Amino acid sequence: MKVGFVGFRGMVGSVLINRMISEGDFKAHNIQTYFFSTSQAGNKITLPFATHDTLLDAYNIDELKQMDIIVSTQSGTYTNTVFENLRNAGYNGYYIDASSALRMRDDTIIALSPVNQDIINHGIQNGIKNFAGGNCSITLSLIGLHGLFRENLIKNMSMMTYQAASGAGALYVRELLKQMAYVVDSNHIDIMNDDTTILDLMNNVGMSIKSDGYPIDNFKTQLAGSVIPWIDMDLNDGSSKEEEKAEAEANKIFGLPPQTIKIDGLCIRVGTVRSHCNAITMQLKEKLSIGEIEKIIKHGNQWVHYVPNNKTSTMDELNPIYTSNTLNISVGRLKKSTLGDDIYHVFTVGDQLLWGASEPLRQVLLSIINFFDKKVR
Ligand code: HSE
Repeated sequence: MKVGFVGFRGMVGSVLINRMISEGDFKAHNIQTYFFSTSQAGNKITLPFATHDTLLDAYNIDELKQMDIIVSTQSGTYTNTVFENLRNAGYNGYYIDASSALRMRDDTIIALSPVNQDIINHGIQNGIKNFAGGNCSITLSLIGLHGLFRENLIKNMSMMTYQAASGAGALYVRELLKQMAYVVDSNHIDIMNDDTTILDLMNNVGMSIKSDGYPIDNFKTQLAGSVIPWIDMDLNDGSSKEEEKAEAEANKIFGLPPQTIKIDGLCIRVGTVRSHCNAITMQLKEKLSIGEIEKIIKHGNQWVHYVPNNKTSTMDELNPIYTSNTLNISVGRLKKSTLGDDIYHVFTVGDQLLWGASEPLRQVLLSIINFFDKKVR
């Protein structure tokens, strides 16, 4: 099948292509790959498995139309620009999108294979052609707490996110690292020397962070040495766009009517490089013991890595360093809340570039290819 990749050199795109290479997808599934670029059409392609020598133009509807499947890891702006034109021009192939542009349309399935493979399969069999990956601030927790969702135990959830810089894109990761380097390099006091006066050191670091040279072109404010409690657009009702997505997408992913499960909270950017965390307070429909909940969470799906609620295990296995570059979703800090006897706290963390972005796209791509392979056989 002809598969066109758009945005394959960005943050999510490069993780997707690397994973497909390491898993042998291109060979195993006889995928004919075509690479499209929004900015460098005509430039040479260095990838060995490309079926052509130069990059194709991602705005060329006639070229896109030749594809059986298009996988876009570009922004929502790109999808908003080409998608309708493509369909209006008669494109009847699949459009798999990493962005939020199509997610809430009736003709689009938000694909999250560990929890809704049945909905994906049903959609493919019934002619659905649009698939989107979900928002990583919520999808990782849906995988981690899948057991509780499957048993219909969650009434509502407050989630406070700790989102890594790479969720915002490649430029933002670079900026976070530049900010860190700037704080060290521009400091007049040797940070590695423990004999210095602590207040002088802290004041110097504070001045570095606030000085004009500290790079904030992308984040527009400081992240290294600080946090940013706002992600995505201001909806002017007290919420950010990122916060609005969680409930809407979660219910759709599970095939539930809107607002069936209530989810709200604050989305916060922190100075980590990779893997998003969620501190969750949830109200369950039943008063269960911690042992019972633990058992249900552990049986959620193969990606759940349950971390016992003690200090040593938490420090070792419930953090972005542990989950980055893996498909594991660590779930821990499970405890009863003093706020009510049906209220519990839990913490989830997973790689938002893998299960939070590229892996659901890869899985739906493979599901579509397998569906056609079986039909041909
Ligand atoms: N919107 C997310 C973030 C990444 O900014 O971290 C994409 O789901």
